[in-house]
Amino acid sequence: MKKNLKAVILVCMSILLLSLVGCTANPDKESQTGLEDKKAAEQSEKVANPDQSGEKMIGIVQIVEHPSLNTIRESFVQELAKEGFKEGDRISIDYQNAQGDQTNLKTICQKFANNKYDLIVAIATPSAQAAAGETKTIPVLFSACTDPLGSGLVANLEKPGQNVTGTSDAVSAEKIMQLAKRITPKIKTVGALYNSSETNSVSVVKDLKAYAAKNGLKVVEATVTNSSDVQQAVASLTGKADAIFSPIDNTVASAMPVVAQVANKAKIPVYVGADSMVKDGGLATYGINYTVLGQETAKMAVEILNGKKAGDIPVKMMSEMDIYVNKDTAKAIGVVIPEDVVKEAKVFGK
Ligand code: TRP
Repeated sequence: MKKNLKAVILVCMSILLLSLVGCTANPDKESQTGLEDKKAAEQSEKVANPDQSGEKMIGIVQIVEHPSLNTIRESFVQELAKEGFKEGDRISIDYQNAQGDQTNLKTICQKFANNKYDLIVAIATPSAQAAAGETKTIPVLFSACTDPLGSGLVANLEKPGQNVTGTSDAVSAEKIMQLAKRITPKIKTVGALYNSSETNSVSVVKDLKAYAAKNGLKVVEATVTNSSDVQQAVASLTGKADAIFSPIDNTVASAMPVVAQVANKAKIPVYVGADSMVKDGGLATYGINYTVLGQETAKMAVEILNGKKAGDIPVKMMSEMDIYVNKDTAKAIGVVIPEDVVKEAKVFGK
């Protein structure tokens, strides 16, 4: 017990002595605090940006988790590793999901910018718009933005010029509607189901209207602001529309099982913009392969990580498209998909 007390006194005395030495060696207390602040800042910078350890820091921001966006992200990370940028080796990844919320998106992108990450990968248009709004210096690589020009992400697809470039999943409303005509030739009124604040959807719906005007179709709209509006919006189209058209809309894609449930009950065919929306119960689309899109995005990331300026890399459009159909949905709504369409298509369901 006595021994312990002695040890405590000894320790206290050495602490006192050490602090006294510290004070005489550094009479200017303020500058010492400044130094410590700087050291602390450097330390936190090191945590946020492990550049000093040779690792590049990549922030991935995704507006919401739905199957297509998850496919893109997984394929991106896999391809990056294949190209020699493995997590925990040459890169560190900070993945954030905004859960469909604009305020979250802003907070996430602000954090990425404040931490001075080396690259921001923004999956889907709303994420890309938020990221581009927070930094003019850190490269922003967008992924699967349907209309990068109309969404204000780049001013020129060939020469983006600023710190923003990426991949686009532009689709053709006309081609999807031509497919719709092959499967359900009698449709006269099409219900456009989308979130009017998603610029990626607005541009496709504009094309749909142009196609409809030329081809004697009528378009009625059902817009939503978040995924909890979707059920009501689909219900509002039953009795009004012979078919539903939903573009590559993140809000609708997140609620696709609900769309299928309501539309199938009303026996309305749903034509969509992406394969995952067909897999989740839509009837058909003519669209791109998102695994390939993720890989292409990774190749652009490699160029940027190796020092190329984002603004010098042209936006990559995906040119290969396939027909996707869902036979379970066809059965549920009593539609027979013509054999020639099935032959050309990638088929979900039996
Ligand atoms: N193209 C969408 C955008 O610009 C993102 C997206 C990719 C998407 N794949 C999808 C949306 C599938 C709905 C369904 O934001």
